[in-house]
Amino acid sequence: MRISVIGCGYVGLVTGSCLAVAGHQVVCADSDESKIVALHAGNLPIYEPYLDSMVAQECREGRLSFTADTREAIASSDVIFICVGTPPLENGDADLSAIDRIARLIATESVTSKLAVEKSTVPVQTGWQLKRALSIYGRDKGVTFKVASNPEFLREGTAVQDFLHPDRIVVGVEEGSAEQLMQEIYLPILERRFNCPMHSTGCPQTQPPPFIVTTINSAELIKHAANSFLALKISYANMISDLCERLGANVDQVTRAVGLDPRIGPAFLRAGLGFGGFCLPKDIQAFMRVAERAAVDFNLLKEVDRLNRKRVVQFVEMAKGALWVLKDKQIAILGLAFKPNTDDVRSSPALELIKLLQVEGSHLRAYDPHAMEKARAAIPFVQYGTDPYEAVQDADALMIATDWEEFRTLDWHRIRALMARPLVLDGRNLLDPARMKSLGFEYHSFGRPDQKLELPTED
Ligand code: UDX
Repeated sequence: MRISVIGCGYVGLVTGSCLAVAGHQVVCADSDESKIVALHAGNLPIYEPYLDSMVAQECREGRLSFTADTREAIASSDVIFICVGTPPLENGDADLSAIDRIARLIATESVTSKLAVEKSTVPVQTGWQLKRALSIYGRDKGVTFKVASNPEFLREGTAVQDFLHPDRIVVGVEEGSAEQLMQEIYLPILERRFNCPMHSTGCPQTQPPPFIVTTINSAELIKHAANSFLALKISYANMISDLCERLGANVDQVTRAVGLDPRIGPAFLRAGLGFGGFCLPKDIQAFMRVAERAAVDFNLLKEVDRLNRKRVVQFVEMAKGALWVLKDKQIAILGLAFKPNTDDVRSSPALELIKLLQVEGSHLRAYDPHAMEKARAAIPFVQYGTDPYEAVQDADALMIATDWEEFRTLDWHRIRALMARPLVLDGRNLLDPARMKSLGFEYHSFGRPDQKLELPTED
């Protein structure tokens, strides 16, 4: 099948290259010419495990190509995946202007019938608007336009895995023919008929994922409902963490046991600095606006957002508790990406933390395994270490802001020797408090106070 993917960001690049791996003929288009020039030279604008080798292989084998000519990409394909950005407007609404622009192009450039698939995260009823726009912009053309919603559930850092081995594929359609096309597109993935870039000896034999067919409105709502629930789970765990801190319990122990209930599940109960990234924060904003417009009282989400914003402030308070005055203190920050295995710093709690410490007058030296280049553009005032050891040199405190696995296995003896004061503030509960203490560190994290029940002593 000839497929075009419009937008070469995270979602577009992963979607395009995975559809090529599934055996389709894919052209990815982006209006940013410099991005296309870089892609032609083999330079990806993002770091995502497996993606660069996949893109190289699919291009070499002729299933994947890139173009800055969106019109041509649209004209030459049967199915168009819309993967353009829907960033938040000032009022929290998703900015749908890029989708509108693509709708106009699809309507004016098509000479054969097309299926337009919404992959970008959009508020419920966008499919309806898209269909209306296509018929208005393309009136008198005699071309049939169909619309489908196919929300992505791609986590940065595991996006290739999530696309090729999904836990569900959701397709919102209105016509049987659109459902059939979508089924055909995903058949190689449903039947595991592709050369998996992650498993050279063949994919693990698991049940095929459920292919869930819904209305377009439902599919759009599923995406916002899923991400908002994930955000809610994190804020809930963070509140349990605060309670643990005040009342002498351990949040790791509590969330582990709570998560073993299959009705709750263990994922997304890690307490710490809170959620960031380009999806969860903007999606709950957009979902709140959807609820507001529908006159549904969903203040629960406002609380989730408010509690999440407080996490970084609480981390700074933790630093003040240990360091007293932050002005002129040398602080090392480990981690800049909003989560591990990505170079993405958009809405990263680490960057928020750095901005607050900067206002306090601290001297900062940061390190991240993959996100320093992107962080430099956003926060140029910070010094950067070439490795974690350079970052902690003479530091009065070390603050962990992203839970990169490699931080766990650092040479902590060496770090202790390099620091001016052996103080570690762990914003992601990455390290073991007992071990850090035994290594001679003063160590603080979220919801794991160093308290044992002690009998009151008699005077
Ligand atoms: C999210 C959704 O998970 C994905 O399904 C969707 O399609 C896109 O948005 P992503 O933005 O890549 O994916 O990040 P995610 O893995 O959801 O993590 C979001 C944030 O929550 C990160 O900052 C992470 O550090 C934080 N988090 C996650 C926690 O603080 N605690 C947890 O237990 C889990």
